[in-house]
Amino acid sequence: MTWTRDSWRERPAKHIPDDYPNPDAVAAVEAELSTYPPLVFAGEARRLRASLAEVAAGKAFLLQGGDCAESFKEFHPNNIRDTFRVLLQMAVALTFGAAMPVVKVGRIAGQFAKPRSSPVETIDGVTLPSYRGDNINSQKFSADARAPDPQRLLKAYGQAAATLNLIRAFATGGYADLRNVHKWNLEFVSGNAQEDRYRVLADKISEALTFMEACGVLGEDIRALREVNFYTSHEALLLGYEAAMTRVDSTTGDWYDTSAHMLWIGDRTRQPDGAHVEFCRGVENPIGIKCGPSLEPDELLTLLDILNPKNEAGRIVLIARFGADNASAGLPPLLQKVQGEGREVVWSCDPMHGNTIKASSGYKTRPFDAILSEVNTFVDVCRAEGAHPGGVHFEMTGQNVTECLGGSQEISEADLSSRYHTHCDPRLNATQSLELAYILADRFKEFRK
Ligand code: PEP
Ligand code: CO
Repeated sequence: MTWTRDSWRERPAKHIPDDYPNPDAVAAVEAELSTYPPLVFAGEARRLRASLAEVAAGKAFLLQGGDCAESFKEFHPNNIRDTFRVLLQMAVALTFGAAMPVVKVGRIAGQFAKPRSSPVETIDGVTLPSYRGDNINSQKFSADARAPDPQRLLKAYGQAAATLNLIRAFATGGYADLRNVHKWNLEFVSGNAQEDRYRVLADKISEALTFMEACGVLGEDIRALREVNFYTSHEALLLGYEAAMTRVDSTTGDWYDTSAHMLWIGDRTRQPDGAHVEFCRGVENPIGIKCGPSLEPDELLTLLDILNPKNEAGRIVLIARFGADNASAGLPPLLQKVQGEGREVVWSCDPMHGNTIKASSGYKTRPFDAILSEVNTFVDVCRAEGAHPGGVHFEMTGQNVTECLGGSQEISEADLSSRYHTHCDPRLNATQSLELAYILADRFKEFRK
């Protein structure tokens, strides 16, 4: 079947609202969006593909992270800055530990729509549609607020554009200078409960920078030290929006979804004959596939046949999300199949979505130790199977929230309520995120020995 920007509309589509009160208004908004400027340029998506091909070849590492769901309410320059900053800090530690370039991809500037385990929510005997993300409906619990509203797509586009604009300024305007980032890392290490442990790595980086400076390679004119390449990504869930943002690249004649550099297909919407796979097969952006416990190895191969028929490195990122207890049994069959068939992919680990628990207080949370344990298992299994443990995918924020348990701050169940701000899943806070990066960097450094 030939692909068109709308061929997905003929396929079964899960998790896309079909109850917009006025379908004509949705079509009008999509038509308007399709005339708006692209948020990213196809050439940037191609550059990301080339970098991901390096990851697939074992020569680079992928760091992907950000909010579970961005929201209109939390939209603030400080929040964007802080998430960006922590990702850069993590990347410096990982670059040093792995001695490899780190490809930086935010879950940001478009990560609004959410698949929900139940289409409805009941509170005190009242049942209403579930909250599906700020580009669809409102979290407020009333019939009006929960009705899907297409005007929200325009607002989401505007927020994504402003977010990306700020990120581009930070990435190239001097803020991301390696010396700044290292200074922030020294601040993180000072006073951390694990200071002695993390300081070893931080001191080594200080020494390396001093050495480079003495050699004259830290000058203002070296772009790689002053600027970063930073990419955006989100789940390609709300296909009407994605299709409206999809354009032909005038340079190559290929289709690109210009809403983000990279898109991924969620664990609940990766049916080979479904709408989401159909849409993604026709755009040339790098595509992630969430791989959870229900994914059979043969089905994964079918997905790779559809989404990457020419087996091009850099096109596909497989994002394993099994949960700490299931990873050692669930991951090897997928790895063996994909490796055995010679498929070129990036293997990444999302240690968040398989480790969500409910605290006795009712808060959804995730234990730091389970997150770390799944990453460690992922690395072990990849190494045992001869694959490159190519990346990690975190739900995280630069804010000092209390949503995930543990870490050196020892966030307890009783602490969760003090700064629990997420609109969807619990995120690692800045300290917890950096701790994971430092621990992982240490492991990579050991392997190199
Ligand atoms: C997510 O990444 O926010 C998500 C819903 O993940 P998954 O599709 O893996 O459950
Ligand atoms: Co999530």
